[in-house]
Amino acid sequence: MTFEQWMRSVLERVETALDHYLPGEATEPATLHEAMRYAVLGGGKRVRPLLCHAAGELTGARAECLDAAAAALEMIHVYSLVHDDMPCMDDDALRRGKPTVHVKYDEATALLVGDALQSQAFVALTSDVLAPAQQAALVRELALASGSVGMCGGQAIDLASVGHTLTRTQLETMHRMKTGALLRAAVRMGALAGETPDAAAMRSLDAYSAAVGLAFQVVDDILDVTTDSATLGKTAGKDAKDGKPTYVSIIGLDASRALAAQLRSDAHAALAPFGARAQRLAELADLVVNRVS
Ligand code: IPE
Ligand code: IPE
Ligand code: MG
Ligand code: MG
Ligand code: MG
Repeated sequence: MTFEQWMRSVLERVETALDHYLPGEATEPATLHEAMRYAVLGGGKRVRPLLCHAAGELTGARAECLDAAAAALEMIHVYSLVHDDMPCMDDDALRRGKPTVHVKYDEATALLVGDALQSQAFVALTSDVLAPAQQAALVRELALASGSVGMCGGQAIDLASVGHTLTRTQLETMHRMKTGALLRAAVRMGALAGETPDAAAMRSLDAYSAAVGLAFQVVDDILDVTTDSATLGKTAGKDAKDGKPTYVSIIGLDASRALAAQLRSDAHAALAPFGARAQRLAELADLVVNRVS
């Protein structure tokens, strides 16, 4: 199977799983459920679900187990986007080529969509396709990665840093928390949904995700200045306008591109112990770095 064929089949599964794990549009309160589905379905690159499936294939995880984990990861990610776009955070009107949730609905609905997606993620993760011990392990991974020592903590640093100059170390910490933590969780959760990897394999996967997780946000920072809103599906040029510290603002565009390329080769190097079995993860590292949106 080519990488494109593999991606297409995983993306199809992910869409079906998200539809399955989200309450239906007719479920009351219907507007809230409609808004949750508006935010989640039919858009986005689904990078976290793809990483989860790729890591799970490495440890022989069943596809149904990966579907539940992937749906949970994407719901947390979308919750973070819905809140990130709100006026109290980045105040963005465009996301995935559509009006943001607070623009299409209202602010209170956007807040509740994020809240409810976060809860629904843990409903998906505790579905009985996963064994109880796996459910507990995955819940812990996702909760840690998305909370105050992970994504939310990174978002707090991001907001507190507006208009300030960060050192490169502070910037790296912020990026690893706000974006890297959830990508790392995607890889770990996929792996843990199968035969528990030994400590050395987990260390290799963590080294891979550390590189891919940081690369992801470095590329996001680059695309904000190099790509137009139509291609991105979100407002371009927003970071500079808002005075956000980014890799581009702190080390410049060329050095940011060089860093992304270095991180891509670090990711490949980390996969060496797995040989050809890690092909999909290697291809996903390339996708993260070479993407155009
Ligand atoms: C955007 O994430 C926010 C960041 C963490 C940089 P994605 O680039 O994965 O957004 P979608 O899911 O494809 O819309
Ligand atoms: C957002 O970072 C990270 C999270 C949502 C956790 P950004 O603010 O850079 O994401 P975009 O550029 O709006 O997608
Ligand atoms: Mg933001
Ligand atoms: Mg933003
Ligand atoms: Mg950004």
